[in-house]
Amino acid sequence: MGKTRWGILAPGNIAHKLAKGLLTVSDAQLTAVASRNIDRAREFAREYGAPTSYGSYQELVADPDVDAIYVASPHSLHREHSILCLEAGKAVLCEKPFAINEKQAREMVDCARANGVPLLEAMWSRFLPVTLKVRQWIADGAIGEPRMVLADFGFRTGFNPQGRLFDPNLGGGGLLDVGVYAVSYASMVLGKPDQVTGFAEIGETGVDEQAVMALRYPGNKLASLACGVRTQTPHQAWILGTDGKILVPDYWHATTATLIQAGKPDETVNLAFQGNGYEYQVMEVGNLLREGRTESEILPLDESLSIMGTLDELRRQWGVKYPME
Ligand SMILES: NC(=O)c1ccc[n+]([C@@H]2O[C@H](COP(=O)([O-])OP(=O)(O)OC[C@H]3O[C@@H](n4cnc5c(N)ncnc54)[C@H](OP(=O)(O)O)[C@@H]3O)[C@@H](O)[C@H]2O)c1
Repeated sequence: MGKTRWGILAPGNIAHKLAKGLLTVSDAQLTAVASRNIDRAREFAREYGAPTSYGSYQELVADPDVDAIYVASPHSLHREHSILCLEAGKAVLCEKPFAINEKQAREMVDCARANGVPLLEAMWSRFLPVTLKVRQWIADGAIGEPRMVLADFGFRTGFNPQGRLFDPNLGGGGLLDVGVYAVSYASMVLGKPDQVTGFAEIGETGVDEQAVMALRYPGNKLASLACGVRTQTPHQAWILGTDGKILVPDYWHATTATLIQAGKPDETVNLAFQGNGYEYQVMEVGNLLREGRTESEILPLDESLSIMGTLDELRRQWGVKYPME
């Protein structure tokens, strides 16, 4: 197999970043872009040198020259758009959160497995070189047994009831937009929680504007997480173990991490991105296709489902239910 031929479905804000990252991957090429509006597709395609533009998503999935599709629509449409692609036999890299809820995510996973097609949640932080290094430290026992994760991701944006971040019809709220990074990071280190609780401030549009969460894992391991779209937080992850700790500043787009062990000098790694960081998940899908695999070992589908289940439980406790649920 030669280069992975990519299509982009829904060229909004984040699709620009993905396209920039993709252009740095030697065995990937951007082949086609599809928007609901052909002019938007053409403009995006021109900007990133894609030869083909479509004015509908259906045309993109029917293109035989496309191997993999990046789904970058709002969360509320991830299920519909991923399934559209998977049923057409295309590998799918779907933006985070994987879907609105675990039920929708399971339909995507079932569809991918039934069709034998690769599907990957675009939790891009997971594929960064620093994140892989952190996992290696933990696997090597550098901090002993991990006991606790502290992680947060919150930013302060202006209130806009029509905007994606506040509109319940588009799956608004901080938990699904950025809290998912913290929940996913804790999942990476500690696995699936057996108890989840938290408090959220629910805003005028009925979605969570800031929240704190406490998660308990088998063996009484714990995570303390925070998120928000109306509150700026430090964006740090701490992994605390029996014999040391790891600090990952800006863990969601990390290029550095520090290993702190008693009686030893701190060890800091700096691993710059090849492009803007979004390229590593693109490479992972390419690896899956080349190696004939359908699921990533770095972020397996069952883990993406478990993460969605955690988000569901938190929203249930907070009374945040979306109109399409
Ligand atoms: N990984 C990251 O760092 C990161 C960062 C930001 C966002 N995200 C995720 O990426 C997804 C998209 O976020 P975004 O900020 O890029 O959103 P956005 O700028 O609003 O773009 C979403 C695109 O989806 C398409 N779309 C299709 N149906 C739509 C509908 N009913 N309403 C609105 N848009 C619709 C639109 O493209 P056309 O109309 O042109 O087809 C639109 O440009 C979200 O799930 C978000 O969580 C990830």
